[in-house]
Amino acid sequence: MNNPKQIAGEKAAEYIENGMCVGLGTGSTAYFAIQKIGQRVKEEGLQVKCLATSKESEQLAKELNIPIYTFDEIKELDVTIDGADEVDKNYNLIKGGGGALLREKIIAYITKHYIIIADESKVVDTLGKFHLPVEVVQFGWQITFSHLQQLGCIPKLREKNNEVFITDNGNYILDCDFTEIKNPKTLQANIHAVPGVVEVGLFIERVNTLIVGHKDGSIEVKSIK
Ligand code: A5P
Repeated sequence: MNNPKQIAGEKAAEYIENGMCVGLGTGSTAYFAIQKIGQRVKEEGLQVKCLATSKESEQLAKELNIPIYTFDEIKELDVTIDGADEVDKNYNLIKGGGGALLREKIIAYITKHYIIIADESKVVDTLGKFHLPVEVVQFGWQITFSHLQQLGCIPKLREKNNEVFITDNGNYILDCDFTEIKNPKTLQANIHAVPGVVEVGLFIERVNTLIVGHKDGSIEVKSIK
């Protein structure tokens, strides 16, 4: 049986070349790309310098002997491979389902070739069915919650295992149900204007290549810009 996440992740790993600086994404789709890069490091002697978008991916990379660097050593990335929670018809994204949106965005913005990998269920006409993750500081989060509510959504403080979820950066996440996001750019600006907001899980006009894995085993590759 085909795993659409696996075929998309493994396809993306083919874009990595010797000597590249690579951003490693987070989540169950990025997992397969990292596994494949690890395999190429082991079997082909592939040489890469990587930055990870989460502690979890960093740990996985280290287990696979993929060299991890820091921002002191890497200022720009040739390629980043990451997953998404939703991809709309203009290739705008919702990310942050795994809680790594802040690090993911910092890494996306120093990347020359940004590759998004997804299974077919992630492709939508309009963003918003997936609740938009917004990372907020802990201080006064209740006030930030109210301000976000006033933007027209139903926010929910994220929990995991019956405890408040804390990001790798020590912040909270408010998952905001907007039902339909008609203008992601305006919404991003409005959310960023709220005090206490650290980052929003909208990734706009950023994708260079989209790789979608299908249940029938086929792969769609779209070059965007
Ligand atoms: C992590 O915070 C997210 O942005 C992930 O990239 C996104 O949630 C996709 O995850 P899956 O590949 O597990 O669906």
